[in-house]
Amino acid sequence: MKYFIYTYGCQMNISDSEKIAAKLKRAGHQPTKTAAGADLVVLNACSVRQSAMHRVLNQLHKFRNKKIILAGCVLPADKNKLTAQNIAFWHPDDYFSLTPLRQNKFSAFVPVMTGCNNFCSYCVVPFTRGQEKSRPATAIIKEIKTLLKNGAKEIILLGQNVNSYRDKKTDFAQLLKKIDNLPGNFRLNFITSHPKDMSDKLIKTLAECKKLVKELHLPVQSGDNAILRRMNRGYNAKRYLDLLKKIRRAIPDIKISTDIIVGFPDETKKQFQNTLKLAQAAKFNNAFIAKYSPRPGTAAAKFKDNVPADEKKRRWRILDTLINGYEH
Ligand code: SAH
Ligand code: SF4
Ligand code: F3S
Repeated sequence: MKYFIYTYGCQMNISDSEKIAAKLKRAGHQPTKTAAGADLVVLNACSVRQSAMHRVLNQLHKFRNKKIILAGCVLPADKNKLTAQNIAFWHPDDYFSLTPLRQNKFSAFVPVMTGCNNFCSYCVVPFTRGQEKSRPATAIIKEIKTLLKNGAKEIILLGQNVNSYRDKKTDFAQLLKKIDNLPGNFRLNFITSHPKDMSDKLIKTLAECKKLVKELHLPVQSGDNAILRRMNRGYNAKRYLDLLKKIRRAIPDIKISTDIIVGFPDETKKQFQNTLKLAQAAKFNNAFIAKYSPRPGTAAAKFKDNVPADEKKRRWRILDTLINGYEH
C-alpha cells in the first residue's frame, strides 16, 4: 500500500515517525508525497494538550475512506472511543527499538529513553508512553558511530527526561562522555532535562564535553512554590534559580530555554507575578509558553480548570513578551 504520515507533537514524535516509516517499509508499503494519494494514513498523535488531540480527531474524520494507523501518544480512554473498522493502533513501544528510515543526513535525532515516571500532575505522557525505558548504551553508541560514518554533523539525544537515563552502570553523564569521546567533528545536544535531576556530576560533565552545544532546555513550568508543589515538580523557585547559577558558573556562556504553563488551576494573579519574577531573574533565552489544558486521567484533572481562557491568554502574552521579546 502507499502510505503518508502526519506527525504531531514534539521531537520524539518526529523521530518516531522515521521508525514508523521503517516498520511500514518492512511490511512492504511505499511512501507517497500527499495524503490524497495514499491508501494508508498514519497519524502520529500528540495528546499533551486537548487542542493537539482535536487536530488528530479531525483528520480521522477526513480520512474515513482510507486505512488509518493511529500511533504515538494517545490516551487509552481516547482509543476506546474509536471503534471504526478502518483504524488500527500502534503504541510507541511497537516501533521504538527499530532503526529509523532517516530523512536528514546531517542532523540526527537519537532517542535514548522513552516514557516517564515523574507524573507531573498536569501531564499526559506517563499515561500515553508508559514507564521510563532506557536503551542499551551499546546500541546507542553503535547507532551514533554509523550516523557519523554516514556524514552526520549534529546528534540530538532525545528523551522525556534524559537525566534519568540508566543502563546498568551507565547514567546520562557517562553516556554523554562516551558519545563526546567518539572521533569526528560533530555537535552534540540533548532534550529534555528535568531540574530535579540535574546533578552536580552532570553539570561537571556538561562543562567537560567538548562537542556539546552550549544550550540547555530546562523546563521550569512555574515560578510559584505552591503551584510547583501542586504540579508535583519536586523543586521550588529558589532551588531552580540556584541551579541556574551553578550551571552558569560551570558554563558561563550557556543559553537556557524553558517551558512554562500559565493558568494552572487556581493560579492567582499574585502567583503568576511570581512566575514573572522568576523569568526576570532567570534571564531565559527563550521559552515555550503553554496555556494549561486539563487532560483526563491526570492528577490535575481533579482540580477545576478555573482560570478563564482570556485571562490565560493575557498571562501568556505578558510572559511571551517578557521572555521571547515579541510585542503582541
Ligand atoms: N518531558 C518534558 C516535557 C514534555 S511535555 C518535561 O518534563 O519538561 C512538553 C511541555 O508541554 C511541558 O514542558 C509543559 O510545559 C507542556 N504541557 C504538558 N502538559 C500540559 C498541559 N496539560 N497543559 C498545558 N501545557 C502542558
Ligand atoms: Fe510530563 Fe513531567 Fe514527565 Fe515531563 S517530566 S514528560 S512534564 S510527567
Ligand atoms: Fe511528545 Fe506530545 Fe507525546 S509532546 S511525548 S508527542 S504527548
